[in-house]
Amino acid sequence: MDGNGRWAKMRHRPRSLGHRAGARAANLCIDACLEAGIPALTLFAFSRENWQRPDEEVGALMQLFLRALDREVDELHRRGVRLRFIGERGAFSADIRARMARGETLTRANTRLHLTIAADYSGRWDLAQAARTLARRALEGRLSPDAIGEAELGSALALSDLPDPDLFIRTGGDTRISNFLLWQLAYCELYFTDTLWPDFDAAQLRLALDAFASRERRFGRTSDQLASESAS
Ligand code: IPE
Ligand code: MG
Repeated sequence: MDGNGRWAKMRHRPRSLGHRAGARAANLCIDACLEAGIPALTLFAFSRENWQRPDEEVGALMQLFLRALDREVDELHRRGVRLRFIGERGAFSADIRARMARGETLTRANTRLHLTIAADYSGRWDLAQAARTLARRALEGRLSPDAIGEAELGSALALSDLPDPDLFIRTGGDTRISNFLLWQLAYCELYFTDTLWPDFDAAQLRLALDAFASRERRFGRTSDQLASESAS
């Protein structure tokens, strides 16, 4: 979700206002996903690297996060959304952590939309924590190092209970992954748009879904193979 700062700057307003508008866009996007029957949505709200922003901006983002948790969790629950957070939680305030935990517990049994908020997340952090988990299991004699394959590593990563994502959307014009779900994106379709995140709405999501629908996903095989399979 990129482009909040530029959206505010174009309006000669503080960056925090852009983040507020970004939070509204996130709500619209969740609504649009519910409407479109999308089973899982993961929003990259705050990266590990974002802690390096000016204190004032980080403070505004934390306040916004806290308020959004207070305002939205019950409504998400009402709409059948299962809410989860991925990332290192330790650096968030106790207030925020308590609300994250409450939201996760409250919505645990919901299945309509798996909504994951990546907060203090980094794809490399995820891989490192998975490696630590497996190393610990090996040390305890519960896992042989020779048995560690893709499935074992994948199962120790965040989102291991969900299928790999099909579509990655980055707004704001930059064409990079910026340490998002590195492992999980191996065969994901990447979609980049110049639209700034606060302007991303249901129509923008539709454009992304249409682009996705026109992609041929070969997973390493040939077009002819795919054609003969779908014919049989
Ligand atoms: C993304 O918007 C929101 C967060 C990282 C929290 P930016 O704040 O990166 O917006 P730009 O890139 O400065 O426009
Ligand atoms: Mg940015």
